[in-house]
Amino acid sequence: MELKVALLTLVLCAAAAAATADYVRPPPRAMLSFPWSKKDSSEPEQVHISLAGEKHMRISWVTSSKHSPSIVEYGTSSRNYSFSSQGESTSYSYFLYSSGKIHHTVIGPLEHNTLYYYRCGGEGPEFQLKTSPSKFPITFAVAGDLGQTGWTKSTLGHIDQCKYDVHMLPGDLSYADYIQHRWDTWGKLVQPLASARPWMVTQGNHEKEYIPLLEDSFKSYNSRWKMPYEESGSSSNLFYSFEVAGVHVIMLGSYTDYDKSSDQYSWLKADLSKVDRVRTPWLLVLFHIPWYNSNTAHQCEGDDMKAAMEPLLHAAGVDLVLSGHVHAYERSRRVYNGKSDPCGAVHITIGDGGNREGLAKEYMEPQPEWSMFREASFGHGELMIVNSTHAFWSWHRNDDDQAVRSDQALLTSLSGTGCLAEKGHELRKMLLEP
Ligand SMILES: *[C@@H]1O[C@H](CO)[C@@H](O)[C@H](O)[C@H]1NC(C)=O
Ligand SMILES: *[C@@H]1O[C@H](CO)[C@@H](O)[C@H](O)[C@H]1NC(C)=O
Repeated sequence: MELKVALLTLVLCAAAAAATADYVRPPPRAMLSFPWSKKDSSEPEQVHISLAGEKHMRISWVTSSKHSPSIVEYGTSSRNYSFSSQGESTSYSYFLYSSGKIHHTVIGPLEHNTLYYYRCGGEGPEFQLKTSPSKFPITFAVAGDLGQTGWTKSTLGHIDQCKYDVHMLPGDLSYADYIQHRWDTWGKLVQPLASARPWMVTQGNHEKEYIPLLEDSFKSYNSRWKMPYEESGSSSNLFYSFEVAGVHVIMLGSYTDYDKSSDQYSWLKADLSKVDRVRTPWLLVLFHIPWYNSNTAHQCEGDDMKAAMEPLLHAAGVDLVLSGHVHAYERSRRVYNGKSDPCGAVHITIGDGGNREGLAKEYMEPQPEWSMFREASFGHGELMIVNSTHAFWSWHRNDDDQAVRSDQALLTSLSGTGCLAEKGHELRKMLLEP
């Protein structure tokens, strides 16, 4: 029954219109303008949530008042909070800017697939969130390189219309680009979605905001978008993993060390050694810079990380890799080491959320044999994992302001196939390497 509903939703979300051949790609849209003023208020703003270990959720928000408590009250009926949790807070300064009080409070244990009502800081409006299902089907919404333009708004509107459980963002969130209050306006822009479903993000180049001798990298990103890295045994917010409904998702950092002697590589080995494909038949990986990209933009930028990490991910039998960076959409066949490979991962570039830099429209010709579909349009993706072996992927282009399904594929998991059995030995060897 649940599956039927989910399938129906997928079809409805895909909208009626078919992709037309004479589609004219739209230009970038202007930055949205937000009234922004700093006032001393304990009103919670920029509320977003993220998965924080089995049956737990992290609630994050900002208050301009430094005296507001990091408390979340919650329960399953409106305005009747049976539980409360006390969290932590942080803040940062960057040049002349100083942030509000940034609160992170973990709540739980929570029931699966349940609507919770919650309130932050003991006052202000009530929010609602739905927890993820404990088993398949589960639906992920995916869009990278979001920014805060008219196209971002359009993309967010389309994601909002669909029934999804978890949002995944492969880097480049706000395009604040050193102007810190743009992190605040972006937080407000995404709040309606990000306060209702977990948003799981990894960093892109626009999160770095490094100024030599003056400002450290990822200062704002790490303060505001705390992900479950401690919960997943990682030493850095720049790489972590989470599990939800039979899916193990690994978020890697394209902008932190990834060679064999790096913390990230050691953590990845440790994380992969814990993956149990009976408990989580699906293995997904996200990072910002694509390894398989036939757009002329950002050609070969992912090569070093690919050389360092692809053999390990291949040995682990990763099903799907999602990345951003290139402002266009591309889906590969199963691929490994530059060639189609029946035991490789499907790679999808989806850096098309709608940022102000516009689309990357030029492709290399001829189209490489591993590339299945490529198009330079804004849009978002939906991944519905139906069961332990099958998933539906669809990509929805922003056709003017309508979401039009322009690419779709039935994906199968490598678990339960000969590929994994073959790779078991290879993986064990790599995990044991010093
Ligand atoms: C408040 O919630 C509790 C536990 O969920 C329930 O037992 C109680 O009846 C609720 N009270 C009201 C007034 O809804
Ligand atoms: C998984 O879903 C696919 C597609 O709906 C179906 O063909 C297949 O039989 C299902 N497998 C299991 C084990 O339920």
